[in-house]
Amino acid sequence: MLLVVLLLLLFLLACPGSSAAGLGITARTLSPCYSADLRPASERLVSAVGCTVLLTIPPLKARKVVSWEYKTGPQEGVIVNYAFDRPANTSRPYENRTRFNETDFSLQIVLQREDDQLYRFRSESEATGWFQLRVVEPLSEPEIVGNSSVKAGGNTKLVCKVLEGKADFYWWKKNGELLLGSDHIQFIDNTTLCIVKASMNDSGYYACVVRNAVSQNETSFLLHVQNAANVVLPVILACVVVGSLAGVFVWCRRRDRPCRSGCR
Ligand SMILES: *[C@@H]1O[C@H](CO)[C@@H](O)[C@H](O)[C@H]1NC(C)=O
Ligand SMILES: *[C@@H]1O[C@H](CO)[C@@H](O)[C@H](O)[C@H]1NC(C)=O
Ligand SMILES: *[C@@H]1O[C@H](CO)[C@@H](O)[C@H](O)[C@H]1NC(C)=O
Ligand SMILES: *[C@@H]1O[C@H](CO)[C@@H](O)[C@H](O)[C@H]1NC(C)=O
Ligand SMILES: *[C@@H]1O[C@H](CO)[C@@H](O)[C@H](O)[C@H]1NC(C)=O
Ligand SMILES: *[C@@H]1O[C@H](CO)[C@@H](O)[C@H](O)[C@H]1NC(C)=O
Ligand SMILES: *[C@@H]1O[C@H](CO)[C@@H](O)[C@H](O)[C@H]1NC(C)=O
Repeated sequence: MLLVVLLLLLFLLACPGSSAAGLGITARTLSPCYSADLRPASERLVSAVGCTVLLTIPPLKARKVVSWEYKTGPQEGVIVNYAFDRPANTSRPYENRTRFNETDFSLQIVLQREDDQLYRFRSESEATGWFQLRVVEPLSEPEIVGNSSVKAGGNTKLVCKVLEGKADFYWWKKNGELLLGSDHIQFIDNTTLCIVKASMNDSGYYACVVRNAVSQNETSFLLHVQNAANVVLPVILACVVVGSLAGVFVWCRRRDRPCRSGCR
């Protein structure tokens, strides 16, 4: 009980009305946007290059002038300025990719990488706190680099390369199933799959899956492990066929050993 009261007190102290009762920004990413989280967020949002973000504020009584501002490092500026007797004035870099709603004062931005910065809304009498927008580049299909044909018994490496964006997670699948590490299957630096002493069983489709906060992508690679049996079996078959055609088949069955060693 005491703990609950203490926690409540702490909570009240940590949030002195500013965001609870006062003016706060809520932002969300509009669909479609890769696999970004589309839920509304206050204080901080992660979104993707090319996606549209909607910044909103609670209903506000109309006054003389309102604006949306940005801050990046020490640099601050105005995105859009709206005095009620004139059309909204949007600053140049935001001109063709933002939409300011003169009724509810919301702002839509089609994101570029440079939009990874802080935002706030301001009227002549009050201002919100700074809202942090993180803009992440979505991941393109990765590329798997490796040798698609390996001899049984050898080691082989497949390297997963991300061409656009930065991946936070990598994992591998074989024929659609998650691959787990072992003595035989090793992961190096998360990006590289190493198969030690490959066997026929290791042949199959290997997929590298990459993921970051806003997207997931994957690509697959067909690995073929050539077993020595692949060479020996057809030779044995050919031997048997040729042998039987030549009428040596019976002789061969009786004197099995010399024939087999001769076919190797
Ligand atoms: C729009 O804003 C710019 C800079 O913020 C200013 O120089 C310009 O005069 C404004 N234009 C209008 C029509 O308010
Ligand atoms: C925005 O679009 C208009 C018309 O298409 C164009 O004249 C203007 O240069 C564009 N502004 C920016 C900053 O790209
Ligand atoms: C502006 O916001 C109002 C109220 O939320 C909404 O009814 C209206 O459709 C919006 N206008 C545009 C152009 O999005
Ligand atoms: C994966 O990347 C390709 C471009 O390389 C893109 O066309 C595709 O939409 C991406 N897939 C996902 C699920 O984001
Ligand atoms: C791929 O592996 C095969 C067999 O081990 C080898 O002969 C070939 O040179 C390798 N190719 C490359 C591009 O490494
Ligand atoms: C590999 O992934 C693990 C956990 O996902 C992480 O802790 C580690 O830093 C990653 N290593 C590299 C080189 O990316
Ligand atoms: C290869 O796969 C088969 C069937 O999946 C299994 O019975 C066999 O033990 C595997 N061999 C090796 C060397 O992993």
